[in-house]
Amino acid sequence: MSERTRYTTGNGAPVPNDDASFTAGPRGPLTFDNWRLFEKLAHFNREQIPERVVHARGSGAFGTFRLTRDLSDLTIADFLQGIGKETPVVARFSTVAGGQDSADNLRDVRGFSVKFYTEQGNWDMVGNNTPVFFIREPSKFPDFIHTQKKDPRSNLVNWQNRWEFWALHPQSFHQVTILLSDRGIPYSYRHMHGFSSHTLSLWNDSGERVWVKFHFKTNQGIKNVTDEEALSLDPAHHQHDLFTHIEKGEFPSWTVKIQLMSEEEAKHYRINPFDLTKVWPQGEFPLIEIGQLELNRNPDNYFAEIEQVAFSPSNFVPGIGASPDRVLQSRLWAYADAHRYRLTVNYQQIPVNRPLAPVNNYQRDGFMAGLGERREGESKEGGQYSTTNFYPNARGEAGAPVYDKRFQEPPLPLEEQAWVGYHENMDEDNFSQAGDLYRLFDDGQKDRIATVFASTLQGVTVEIVERVIQQCYAADEDYGRRVETLYRQHADKRIADFV
Ligand code: HEM
Repeated sequence: MSERTRYTTGNGAPVPNDDASFTAGPRGPLTFDNWRLFEKLAHFNREQIPERVVHARGSGAFGTFRLTRDLSDLTIADFLQGIGKETPVVARFSTVAGGQDSADNLRDVRGFSVKFYTEQGNWDMVGNNTPVFFIREPSKFPDFIHTQKKDPRSNLVNWQNRWEFWALHPQSFHQVTILLSDRGIPYSYRHMHGFSSHTLSLWNDSGERVWVKFHFKTNQGIKNVTDEEALSLDPAHHQHDLFTHIEKGEFPSWTVKIQLMSEEEAKHYRINPFDLTKVWPQGEFPLIEIGQLELNRNPDNYFAEIEQVAFSPSNFVPGIGASPDRVLQSRLWAYADAHRYRLTVNYQQIPVNRPLAPVNNYQRDGFMAGLGERREGESKEGGQYSTTNFYPNARGEAGAPVYDKRFQEPPLPLEEQAWVGYHENMDEDNFSQAGDLYRLFDDGQKDRIATVFASTLQGVTVEIVERVIQQCYAADEDYGRRVETLYRQHADKRIADFV
């Protein structure tokens, strides 16, 4: 008979019996030397960690990014040089508002995050399935999320709260139009596009910068469901769909494209190119194909590799940088802070987050500091070692890292006489692009979006409804008329049902 794997306690000692605990006699109580039982119960008590404050419910997988267009003229990013270059990735898709206990089949924006394990560190593309966002002012984010999550008293989703935020923030209207349209409930994570949404930058070895937006176009084709169809989907449909297709070898993939805008164009472009509520029209800034993203391996353990994966818009690599988009700027800080809270200060030592590139710095200690396996090129093991832990130093010893100015990104000029203060950006055009999008819809799409407006506005206070309808009119006369007509029909029907 082959030897079975030995069951041990956490300290590696064999477990002699796990079908019974120590008791004083067959009918007596537990005794205090049940240390194996206590270890088991105590570990169980600590199995949960805080869920992500947003995007708590998600699915993920590993795969590869393959470059199909050399970008060495635009960037020094090593993974964007040389056609055919392959870079391992992990991706996580998510809903936004619901907790882990919510469902996949809800009308919500979807997160689209990809961690590229490049040879010069991890680059995280932390985007959504929409090219724009609800706000262009970052201080609005916590208020916005509070209105999308459960009401503090009823513990239920509350459309009054949602509409109140949107009605009082016309800057949301473009994204609201996308969310309430057919794109609002993707059939699965495989059938949606991904967008950096933000403007980022690429810079090359001549110190030239170009502004860039990333697009991930699903090769499976866009597929959405209506609110009614969504009800017939398993609440875990997204997880099931992604996991089983990868398990069967039907690997989902996306064609990766970019839009570019020169610094000079950006200075004179008619809309603010760093306004997250706007797209760059593709007629003016055409998509350029640069690669293929394929997901081809499920995680071995969901918790270790997907629950603990930590994406941050501040995880840049040389050759890719930020832009003056103020929402992006606040995200550069927010995510690493969230990870330190959720996963401890050494979250980057967790295997799924650990770069393939060697990590050499002077940061030490803290919760969960590991002596993980040392990688080639690393002078320390998993974040800890006993050579010099301060900089500058006069040791010159092998393994005392030094910085390299070749990786300094070009400085960003201030384009205006800039006075530090509260510069509100509320008055920018909030409706033109929403109207342009609406006019692309066919008659059926226009009816369906108006129906979603009308049904979710039922029960919302009249003042808020009036504001929303005015916003629809501001985007497009027909948009306003359809929403208003359907809303009033629904309201009349409710009264008729009641009397
Ligand atoms: C001021 C604006 C924003 C703030 C403060 C913010 C903050 C956060 C925080 C704290 C998390 C949880 C991180 C974690 O615990 O792992 C998160 C997750 C996420 N956010 Fe944002 N966010 C903002 C805007 C955006 C925008 C504009 C996008 C997309 C364009 C976005 C996409 C995501 C995604 C995809 C995740 C989930 C990442 C994952 O899969 O782990 N967020 N956000």
